[in-house]
Amino acid sequence: MTRSAGEQPAQTSAVTRQPPTRQLHVITWGCQMNVYDSGRMADVLAPLGYAPTPVPEGADMVILNTCHIRDRAAEKVFSELGRLRLLKQAREAAGGRMILAVAGCVAQAEGAEILARAPYVDIVLGPQTYHRLPEMVARASRAAGAVIETDFPAEDKFDHLPDAAAPQGLTAFLTIQEGCDKFCSFCVVPYTRGAEASRPAAAVLAEARRLVAQGAREITLLGQNVNAWHGAGPDGQPATLGRLVRWLAEIPGLSRIRYTTSHPRDMDDELIAAHAEVPALMPFLHLPVQSGSDRMLAAMNRRHTADAYREIIGQLRAARPDIALSSDFIVGHPGETEADFEATMQLIRDIGFAQAFSFKYSPRPGTPAAGAPNQVPEAEKDRRLQALQALLREQQAAFNAACAGLTIPVLFTGPGRHPGQIAGRSPWLQPVHVTGPAELIGTEVQVTIASAHTNSLSGTLNQERACA
Ligand code: 5AD
Ligand code: SF4
Repeated sequence: MTRSAGEQPAQTSAVTRQPPTRQLHVITWGCQMNVYDSGRMADVLAPLGYAPTPVPEGADMVILNTCHIRDRAAEKVFSELGRLRLLKQAREAAGGRMILAVAGCVAQAEGAEILARAPYVDIVLGPQTYHRLPEMVARASRAAGAVIETDFPAEDKFDHLPDAAAPQGLTAFLTIQEGCDKFCSFCVVPYTRGAEASRPAAAVLAEARRLVAQGAREITLLGQNVNAWHGAGPDGQPATLGRLVRWLAEIPGLSRIRYTTSHPRDMDDELIAAHAEVPALMPFLHLPVQSGSDRMLAAMNRRHTADAYREIIGQLRAARPDIALSSDFIVGHPGETEADFEATMQLIRDIGFAQAFSFKYSPRPGTPAAGAPNQVPEAEKDRRLQALQALLREQQAAFNAACAGLTIPVLFTGPGRHPGQIAGRSPWLQPVHVTGPAELIGTEVQVTIASAHTNSLSGTLNQERACA
């Protein structure tokens, strides 16, 4: 899965395709796949006349696209629902209607609970049923009582979703794989997103071409276990992600390819070779390891050792020496001792990460670790998280500082913070700010980095000429 903030509403999104007659407001929490899904829900509702609105006030429909990955997710949904309930009541008192839908992984995991606690919710839908949204809206409009769709339907939702209509801009997301069969001890994803499934190569390539035609220069392939992607190639032969990346790299105009989130077990030779041989595949990889202790990795059911992870990183660095690494870490998984934690710190020191996400273990109902007897006290989790994050912050600062003086390609994506500035991103996903003309937005230009800040870089244009 992608890094799941699960903390704050990530963004508001909605899309239109024809003259709007109704307003749709979408609130998205969590991972990039949820952001992508919100766009697709808006796509599927566009033919019904739903158009974007940035605020819930006045909306005919509000969708909460939720995340269940860590703590308090459901509570955040309920508090947001409480706020929306007032808007819905006010609208209905004025003779109008507001359809309230809860989508995403909280809906999948706690659909019945949502309807029990918030009976004013009209629709509860799990991530595999978005293509049925128009039908659910029709049913909700007709019926008294809520519509709930949280089964895993036999048909493939991607076969039933319309082509992505919303131009996603210069940097676009494309879901190629969904679900997970790995069943890590702590994780809800196999239960909320269902079994691992890959989209066919032809569908992926067609969507990628469409995104590029709409202006995308960079595509991030998404999947909970994206490097488990597999499918048949044009030659009918089975293919894995390394081959798919090569096919995508042939699309004219697509200059940058990324993929997230990966599992170490699925980093096969072909994918590592693609890092060596496909220039468009960016030298940045988010490869969650969770822990550096073999004992914990076994308890987590990760099915690899810390040394196996080190080995993969060694191969990736041999293939692409400038590759930068990112990871996810969990501290305080049941049974984690001080020695286990120290093994994680050692792995971080050994590898050196350009960035990372780290979390306190949070018991998710229904997962094996949630019922384990040897839970780690909260205060201990806090202490470990702080120590781990201090180390990771140091490494991130060192990585950014090492960029000063380098000349690197930057894909400019928009205006900068100050007049006369433009902003883009480095191959390693750092935001980069320079003084430069707006015409460069949409192009990749060489920039000499002058200084590094906590989360961004600034520099000067090497030459005011697009290099791609
Ligand atoms: N507790 C804490 N962190 C979790 N993650 C997933 N499930 C849990 C949990 N129960 C983290 C993992 C994963 C990232 C997306 O979220 O590190 O890689
Ligand atoms: Fe969750 Fe593990 Fe699957 Fe990642 S690989 S989605 S952490 S079960």
